Amino acid sequence: MTALVHTRAGLQPFLDGFANGKRGVAMTMGALHEGHLELLKKARHDCDLVVATIFVNPLQFGPNEDFDRYPRTLDDDLKLCAEAGVDVVYAPAVEEVYPGGQPIVKVTPGPMGEVLEGAFRPGFFTGVLTIVNKLLNLTDPHMAFFGQKDAQQLALVRRMVLDLNMPVEIVGVPTVRDEDGLAKSSRNRYLSPEERTTALTLSRALFAGQEKTTDGADAVREAASAVLEPAAQAGRIDVDYLALVDPRDFSEVSPTFSGEAVLALAARVGTTRLIDNLPLILTSPGAR
Ligand code: PAF
Repeated sequence: MTALVHTRAGLQPFLDGFANGKRGVAMTMGALHEGHLELLKKARHDCDLVVATIFVNPLQFGPNEDFDRYPRTLDDDLKLCAEAGVDVVYAPAVEEVYPGGQPIVKVTPGPMGEVLEGAFRPGFFTGVLTIVNKLLNLTDPHMAFFGQKDAQQLALVRRMVLDLNMPVEIVGVPTVRDEDGLAKSSRNRYLSPEERTTALTLSRALFAGQEKTTDGADAVREAASAVLEPAAQAGRIDVDYLALVDPRDFSEVSPTFSGEAVLALAARVGTTRLIDNLPLILTSPGAR
């Protein structure tokens, strides 16, 4: 059975019960879907105690973003957590997470947090790293599980843990997609059926780029862009960025780059902003 606690004090007995076991956390903002289910199952597989956190973090939403309309579906979330074998869901109130009100001290993501998502959502990664740090302190895990769908977030969390000597292992879990390729996201539920069809342009663009990994970085970018452009020109999507980046620092890779890269994009379909990415291994044409 999955327990639900709303306070740190309520969580303590669970942590005490597994003082000598391996404790894992999967942090979420609720509105759980199969992508989260994979995180939770991986945590269940790797850990003795599995804590899922559900907290819609105000600090990572901009003034014109969807904090108020972000889906809050606790009853359904608890069912999914039970299905995944989660031991305890920690769903704290904002007053417990931010006891001093608006925080004065925050975690600064640095240059890697200022590109791509960071450029389009100023302050977003400060909010994310600050809450991840807080939830790690509150849940005291050995392992923490994050989805690769939020590739830049995952890279920044890894970097924070490295740079701040934090005693936790960060585990990335592959993106889960619908059969037609659409990456699972809590925000997909905002899409009308027509918008959902349009949203498939994102994953199609990524898969088109993936076809060109042996032709070098420019070919990958061009192939993805060729899928996005007609939809953008017809006004069906509004592309924020399409980028092929080095996963270590999220800087754009050079045309002769070979090795691991991430093809990432963000676009608005109607009023819904979606992100997606694919990890790729690139072979530079010059290297062949
Ligand atoms: O990926 C998310 O859902 C959020 O950014 C996270 C990690 C739970 C922090 O609020």
